[in-house]
Amino acid sequence: MSVDLRSGDWLDDNRANWDERVPVHVASEFYDRAVLRSGGSQLDPIARAGIERLFPEGLEGKRVLHLQCHFGSDSLSLVNLGATVVGIDFSEPAIDEARRTAAELGVADRARFIQANVYDARHLLPEPESFDLVFTTWGTIGWLPDVAEWARIVAWFLKPGGHLYFADGHPTAWIFDDQGAAGGEASLPSVKYPYAASEPDVLDDPSDYADTETVLEHARTWEWTHPLSETMRAIRDAGLVIEEFEEHFRLPWRIFPAAVPLGEGMFGWPDAKWIPLAVELVAVHPEH
Ligand SMILES: C[S@@+](CC[C@H](N)C(=O)[O-])C[C@H]1O[C@@H](n2cnc3c(N)ncnc32)[C@H](O)[C@@H]1O
Repeated sequence: MSVDLRSGDWLDDNRANWDERVPVHVASEFYDRAVLRSGGSQLDPIARAGIERLFPEGLEGKRVLHLQCHFGSDSLSLVNLGATVVGIDFSEPAIDEARRTAAELGVADRARFIQANVYDARHLLPEPESFDLVFTTWGTIGWLPDVAEWARIVAWFLKPGGHLYFADGHPTAWIFDDQGAAGGEASLPSVKYPYAASEPDVLDDPSDYADTETVLEHARTWEWTHPLSETMRAIRDAGLVIEEFEEHFRLPWRIFPAAVPLGEGMFGWPDAKWIPLAVELVAVHPEH
């Protein structure tokens, strides 16, 4: 299926869904921003360790592009760690809230937020080769139809020597029923979605991961499972060189009801390490 990346039902439905989630997330305990307000970082343990490995000297003076920044919690964490950040998200309420929080924290001079579809980013932010880091984590490319074009956009923004930091649910973990199997928390999840599909999953799911009581009005979403090989090929074909690749058995949300809390906001398997739940990847834009 060929998709118009700049317009269409997929974009309208997904944007309406995310717009509606913003006030729910802002009010939720899941996105507790107390640490941000005290000048700290609320990056999850995987991303925090990844950024520390990548920048052992810290983020002072680094320019970061945060793709699909939601309402800016991770963007502003990176600012609190010393970076200057541009965050991009297609949701207007998310960008409004990110700007409001940046102003409240007194860091608006180092945090710029742009409302844009990822696929429009090059037009709205015409600054090629200007970022030390493109950061994008936890629930990103699954909302994007074309991962090859995403990778080209990432490469276009990176300085020579700049890095992509990517962490997300492992595509093998997206095959499970996230609404839970009969038997509830005690049983392992059942398989619901194929690992690879030529069509998007068009779902009608009014639930939200940050507030299980919420019933969303704009429930229709379009989601894509990109096999790991497709994502890695896209990154390589865009001219980036993969430097680090890791699989993890924990991730920062309850991906299915059988997942159990592991501390520090992370969730994992209740018993054995059945399959990895998260993937983490660092790629560099080689020097010319
Ligand atoms: C699960 S959230 C990412 C959360 C992120 N890890 C954070 O910092 O909190 C997914 C985000 O992707 C955004 N999004 C989805 N499709 C997009 C697109 N085509 N262009 C830009 N943003 C998009 C949504 O608005 C939402 O904020």
